[in-house]
Amino acid sequence: FRKMLRQFLIFFFLFVLVFDSVIAQLKVDKAYQKMFSGNVSEIPQNINSSITEVFFLQTEIKVVRKGDFKSSPGLLKISFIDNQLNTIEPGAFDDLHNLIELEIGGNPTLETISVGVFDSLKSLKNLVITNNKNKISDLPEGIFDNLPHLTELGLAGNRIKTLPADVLLKNTQLQKLSLENNLISELPLDFFSNLNKIRDLKLNSNKLSTFPLRLFGEMPNLKILDLKDNVLTTVPSQIFSNLTALKKLTLSSNQIVSLPSDAFTGLNLLADLYLRGNNLTSLNKDIFSVLPNLRVLNLQKNNLQNIPDGIFDSLSKLSSVYLDENPWVCDCHLHYLLKWIQRNRSKLKSSSKVLCTSPEELKGQLISSLRENQ
Ligand SMILES: *[C@@H]1O[C@H](CO)[C@@H](O)[C@H](O)[C@H]1NC(C)=O
Ligand SMILES: *[C@@H]1O[C@H](CO)[C@@H](O)[C@H](O)[C@H]1NC(C)=O
Ligand SMILES: *[C@@H]1O[C@H](CO)[C@@H](O)[C@H](O)[C@H]1NC(C)=O
Ligand SMILES: *[C@@H]1O[C@H](CO)[C@@H](O)[C@H](O)[C@H]1NC(C)=O
Ligand SMILES: *[C@@H]1O[C@H](CO)[C@@H](O)[C@H](O)[C@H]1NC(C)=O
Repeated sequence: FRKMLRQFLIFFFLFVLVFDSVIAQLKVDKAYQKMFSGNVSEIPQNINSSITEVFFLQTEIKVVRKGDFKSSPGLLKISFIDNQLNTIEPGAFDDLHNLIELEIGGNPTLETISVGVFDSLKSLKNLVITNNKNKISDLPEGIFDNLPHLTELGLAGNRIKTLPADVLLKNTQLQKLSLENNLISELPLDFFSNLNKIRDLKLNSNKLSTFPLRLFGEMPNLKILDLKDNVLTTVPSQIFSNLTALKKLTLSSNQIVSLPSDAFTGLNLLADLYLRGNNLTSLNKDIFSVLPNLRVLNLQKNNLQNIPDGIFDSLSKLSSVYLDENPWVCDCHLHYLLKWIQRNRSKLKSSSKVLCTSPEELKGQLISSLRENQ
């Protein structure tokens, strides 16, 4: 029996490892839940009315037809995961006035979703159309217009290239918006300006090269903004000035060459600023002075040769600064940094990798080991 138990545990562990992500979303063990998987090829018509959540996992369903859920108006949640859907007919979800959650993920063959498909989902709060294999490349104008209660919209991992300017105009209750891992190269002017309930906004891993001059309206709840892994070369003046509650801003892995001196104006509560992996060659002396709550500043992997005098002086909460992988020139212009490091040694992280690149005689030397007369 023990051996069996051990085998079972090993199997179970591997199973959990492999299906971890699926399982995390899929706890189908309640009496009101039902999972369909395997050789099911049409939406079943005899779903017991005591079932409120249905899951279609790796089925053979290709088309969700108009009226398919006519006999199940009590459903609260529908989740399609890793299926082979190619068409969702207009009217497919027509009878689902109570539906709160709809997930359509991992359908390599689904290329478009037509306007009107979601129109009768008056109660919908969470809509997730996601997973790397979806091929969805454009969002038709008006597609989300009749979803006034939507609080979460997940569109990550598709191939969305452009966003119609008004596509989220009606979705003023949104709290979470995920647009990461797409091919978005530009955002329309004022695109997020009506979304003042947003808490979490993900735009990372797209092709953004510039921002419009205005993008965010008042967003007193936004805590996290992720812009990592785009191709931004700068950001407009005061672009973040309405994000008064922002705690974490990630601009890593872009191609930012320079930033205006008022780039971060308004970010009074910002604690974490990530600028790792950009092309910054210099920083304005006052750029961080508007960030009284800054704790973590990551400038790793840029093109900085020196840092202006006094740049960290107003940052009384600063606790971690990352400066390695920059071509530091260890001459008299680096005097401020040297002094700062000597007095704030524990705040310089990865200090064993912060090295002089020139002059020749100091090349490779630790900055933290330099003496002031060097
Ligand atoms: C589908 O699978 C079930 C059980 O695994 C089996 O009884 C049924 O005959 C299969 N249907 C088809 C059409 O293969
Ligand atoms: C539906 O499920 C309930 C509870 O599991 C059960 O009592 C009832 O007989 C089922 N109805 C049908 C038509 O299968
Ligand atoms: C900040 O929000 C206000 C009110 O929505 C708006 O008028 C202004 O243009 C916004 N500022 C920026 C820089 O986006
Ligand atoms: C940023 O640096 C990378 C690598 O050093 C380079 O390939 C790229 O062209 C630079 N981009 C800009 C905008 O300077
Ligand atoms: C850190 O360095 C600055 C500038 O040299 C200095 O004013 C400050 O007192 C130092 N902070 C601590 C905690 O030593």
